[in-house]
Amino acid sequence: MKTITIAVVQFTPQFGKKKKNLARMQQLVANVTADIIVFPELCTTGYFFQTRDEVAMAAEPATGPAAEFFRNMALEHQAIVVAGFAERAGDSLYNACLVVVPEAAQPWVYRKTHLFYKEKICFDPGDTGFFVVKDARRGVNVGPMICYDWRFPEAARVLMLQGADVIVCPANLVTTAWRKVMPARAIENNVYLAVANRAGSEKRQNEQLTFQGESAIYDINGRVLTAAAASGDEVLQCKIDPRRARDKAFNALNNVVSDRQPQHYKELVMRQNF
Ligand code: ACM
Repeated sequence: MKTITIAVVQFTPQFGKKKKNLARMQQLVANVTADIIVFPELCTTGYFFQTRDEVAMAAEPATGPAAEFFRNMALEHQAIVVAGFAERAGDSLYNACLVVVPEAAQPWVYRKTHLFYKEKICFDPGDTGFFVVKDARRGVNVGPMICYDWRFPEAARVLMLQGADVIVCPANLVTTAWRKVMPARAIENNVYLAVANRAGSEKRQNEQLTFQGESAIYDINGRVLTAAAASGDEVLQCKIDPRRARDKAFNALNNVVSDRQPQHYKELVMRQNF
């Protein structure tokens, strides 16, 4: 068995305090030895933007200081680092995450496909689609999705079909329904799933969002390998064997990939309106 270690960092970003947030993340992983480190959604800036102008002020290109910070972290820890950030690309603004592989010259950038609540006012819908980063050195294929993407089973499905062993999900989850659903995403796709949620709350313009914590890492059978408390900062770590995610059979006759009947799934592409 060739295992790798995955770490999930739950913490409490402060809105608009980028320097502080980066320093806190650095501190939290100081003693972490892992192959993959996952941080929450928008972990550099905080979450609850109210306007596009606010995002424009805080956003950075994928070659900016935040990317440099996570690249240095990836090199220092010799780990794949996954972290949410507000991205500016020309006139576009994305709720994005970096996937930094230490040996790669450039980070991958996933731009959140399904925007939640006021994100619809502040960000552009992601245009990258779903993709998987294949790291032969560590022997793991990593598929990113961000937070509210969880509510669309197609997201995890597409990542699995592209070869993900581990779905990584930087998140700022404000409901609790995901706790029922994430294990299902792991089971139906026979993948590991790591949710890096944030804790704490943010009050902007008299509206408060409370983030639900309970970050977790699920195995291919949807079992919780490790989970955080509902509040507070915490680093979860556990070992996983990516090869277990590659054998999609769960008994002698059933296999969650080859048993699919896509000829009956045409509505997934065709039917947009109800
Ligand atoms: C969310 O997508 N941040 C709930």
